[in-house]
Amino acid sequence: MKALVYHGPGQRGWDTIEDPTIVDPTDAIVRIDTSTICGTDLHILKGDVPETTPGTVLGHEAVGTVEAVGASVTTIAPGDRVLISCITSCGSCRFCKEGRYGQCLGGGGWIFGHLINGLQAEYARVPFADSSVYKVPDALSDEQVLFLADILPTSYEVGVLNGVISPGDLVAIVGAGPIGLAAILTAKLYTPGRIVAIDLADSRLESARRFGADTTINNGAADATAQVMELSEGLGADVAIEAVGVPESFELCADLVRPGGHVANIGVHGKPATLHLEKLWIRDVTVTTGLVDTYSIPRLMKLIASGRLDPSLFATHRFALGDTMAAYDTFADAANTGALKVVLQGAANAERSAEQASEARELPSAVPA
Ligand SMILES: NC(=O)c1ccc[n+]([C@@H]2O[C@H](COP(=O)([O-])OP(=O)(O)OC[C@H]3O[C@@H](n4cnc5c(N)ncnc54)[C@H](O)[C@@H]3O)[C@@H](O)[C@H]2O)c1
Ligand SMILES: [Zn+2]
Ligand SMILES: [Zn+2]
Repeated sequence: MKALVYHGPGQRGWDTIEDPTIVDPTDAIVRIDTSTICGTDLHILKGDVPETTPGTVLGHEAVGTVEAVGASVTTIAPGDRVLISCITSCGSCRFCKEGRYGQCLGGGGWIFGHLINGLQAEYARVPFADSSVYKVPDALSDEQVLFLADILPTSYEVGVLNGVISPGDLVAIVGAGPIGLAAILTAKLYTPGRIVAIDLADSRLESARRFGADTTINNGAADATAQVMELSEGLGADVAIEAVGVPESFELCADLVRPGGHVANIGVHGKPATLHLEKLWIRDVTVTTGLVDTYSIPRLMKLIASGRLDPSLFATHRFALGDTMAAYDTFADAANTGALKVVLQGAANAERSAEQASEARELPSAVPA
């Protein structure tokens, strides 16, 4: 089969490799119909994730069709269309029993395109298939559910739910990349009073407005803290969501939040960020951290099915799976291409998706597959 293979920092190839096979009785083999690229894949390519060894197939978000199942798999069968979560769950360890799949001790957690071969490929071996994939209702397209594999549950669980957004809240979201934008979409489920999106890039702030931000602030050009104070009678945001992963954005969230408010950190930090306890201790602020568990996938899928959550705005570009190399170039150059998420279409799905795409609204910088 063909797959996007990591060859060490700065190097990747669209290579022919061995087809995956069932190794453990809990495995499934899934044909990948639709996949996508994540900012984390770019981190791996920069060499920031040393556990990922050269030779690993990248990718941790996909929708596919079950081809084969191991002897002990009981809930899915060949022919089923499934969403593959970025987080694998063994289903039986202490943390999986609590729904904390990201912390799985039994061989799950974030493993695809990290510790084992991932999902930017024609086929994938999916360990612990019964507890790690979700059947997709016939009424939903691959593209409608694709972003449930990672960004939507991440922003919902680690941002919106950890931040305890309540109706009427002023919610400040720092960072308007895919994760910050997914935080805007899922925050709206709780009817906040105002969503303020903060980013250094005007193009990202434009996207934030399209996704539903009420106010946008370019914190490279304006004093974001002062503006949030002005919008909140000098108190600060009820909830501040950190969706960047650098010390400045975390510290900005801590400055923005009101006494008794929540700072929900989503960003992956590579450097130490200062927690100003000397300022925070007296203000009853709650700070939360988290790796996504994806326990909310079934709930979010129902909201997509009922039309209350519409992730279609994320798909700015579409490519054939065979053009994954070019898709990486487009995704990595987001500043110029305006890419939010690129959709990679496997051969079986390309025709159907092309029809759907032509029916959908015009996309600003869409590249036909
Ligand atoms: N916790 C989790 O489970 C989890 C899961 C997925 C991704 N993440 C992390 O979430 C973060 C965001 O992901 P993404 O894909 O949206 O990334 P991205 O790089 O596409 O977007 C980040 C945005 O932050 C903006 N930005 C950079 N510095 C800023 C600053 N100082 N102030 C304001 N804005 C700034 C950039 O302009 C960009 O729009 C990353 O750190 C990613 O690794 C965490
Ligand atoms: Zn990801
Ligand atoms: Zn487990």
